[in-house]
Amino acid sequence: MSISYKNQTLAIEKVFRDPVHNYVHVQHQVILDLINSKEVQRLRRIKQLGTASFTFHGAEHSRFSHSLGVYEISRRICDIFQRNYSIEKVGPSGWDDQERLVTLCAALLHDVGHGPYSHTFEHIFHTDHEAITVAIITSPETEVHQILNRVAEGFPEKVASVITKTYPNPQVVQMISSQIDADRMDYLLRDAYFTGTEYGTFDLTRILRVIRPYEGGIAFSMNGMHAVEDYIVSRYQMYVQVYFHASSRGMEVILAHLLNRAAECYTENDELFQHHSQLLLPFLRQDFSLEEYLKLDDGVLNTYFTQWTEESDLILSDLAKRFLNRKPLKSIRFTDDAQLPLIEDLKKLVEKVGFNPTYYTAINSSFDLPYDFYRPTSGMHRTQIELQEKDGTLTELSKASQLVAALAGQTQGDRRFYFPKEMIDPNLQNHYDLFEETYQAFATYIRNGALIKPSNF
Ligand code: NI
Repeated sequence: MSISYKNQTLAIEKVFRDPVHNYVHVQHQVILDLINSKEVQRLRRIKQLGTASFTFHGAEHSRFSHSLGVYEISRRICDIFQRNYSIEKVGPSGWDDQERLVTLCAALLHDVGHGPYSHTFEHIFHTDHEAITVAIITSPETEVHQILNRVAEGFPEKVASVITKTYPNPQVVQMISSQIDADRMDYLLRDAYFTGTEYGTFDLTRILRVIRPYEGGIAFSMNGMHAVEDYIVSRYQMYVQVYFHASSRGMEVILAHLLNRAAECYTENDELFQHHSQLLLPFLRQDFSLEEYLKLDDGVLNTYFTQWTEESDLILSDLAKRFLNRKPLKSIRFTDDAQLPLIEDLKKLVEKVGFNPTYYTAINSSFDLPYDFYRPTSGMHRTQIELQEKDGTLTELSKASQLVAALAGQTQGDRRFYFPKEMIDPNLQNHYDLFEETYQAFATYIRNGALIKPSNF
């Protein structure tokens, strides 16, 4: 009798060289087939960090490499669980290796629904990468679905339920999605590596030594506390220093305004993008199919942006140039709603100079919670990080670590007002006929309003 597809392993394991994990090891035929599917290969053409590469030029890595990385960390966790904490060894609170394939498939596919410049695109066109991930896994027309369906009837739905966190085994769900999961561990290390920042690094090898399953999910042995603590601090620093970088957000604002302007131009003239931006038409019409979604990637959008630089609409062509040539909006930080009227005044000055404030100013807020314990009163469900004593007792991380206690429940981030660089750069003034007094007024407003100045102001 031939071996079922589910249990088919490669005669010799296949490896993919990886700068973060050294090697990504593939043993199952199913995993290799998924990697080779067109939906997963598409992730090579989508940058993991979007506009952050305008600030950290090394950050050109793709969602494909991150997906392989999450797969590899999950594979290593499954190996450790099976070796040391299998149900055969420790009883029902241990790891059931029957869960391995569903875990690995979910790890590899967890981001398969991401599109180009994901967060900005989603915001403008009302797409949802998680819903699309589920659709790719469960729709009969995709290669991913056809591969998963060969494993067993209902297997694609099982994989999808890990993504939506409805899968019954909490160990599997928490490995892919929790406050310390394979996804976060990979992106922190990978983004730190490719941005060239040191903040995101932490001791993954040590974390994999102290990770363990229990009946409620995944815990870490108490003597591994400092490795987990270091991971939380890394996450905090990566958000503040990399993910919330003011210039990357200045580029994100340009991109959002550019896509909004394109939508606006399309509303006025639906012939406009027929000849050179056809793949975007279903999104401008707000009626797209999965097949149409899967045709988009960073290259497609960037090509359209190049074409838009030639368009007769001056705002569209100018924003396209600013995006392609990396001309971010500048920003000032503000902390208080009481400063909002001041920002309205600044917008009027921006308008006086000739910029349409709808497309050349923005308020951008970026906040994150590096860690929190479970609070029954908050609407958000969070799986807290548990440390396990030798006798099996669990202690929530911030109860054991003063460092984490200081960060727990503390939202990090800031709120900024974005405006054209021309408002504060005397060298650019003549070009835009900026009046001297408007420039002075802008500067005075910022000083007197106690807004926090950009560094080169
Ligand atoms: Ni991810």
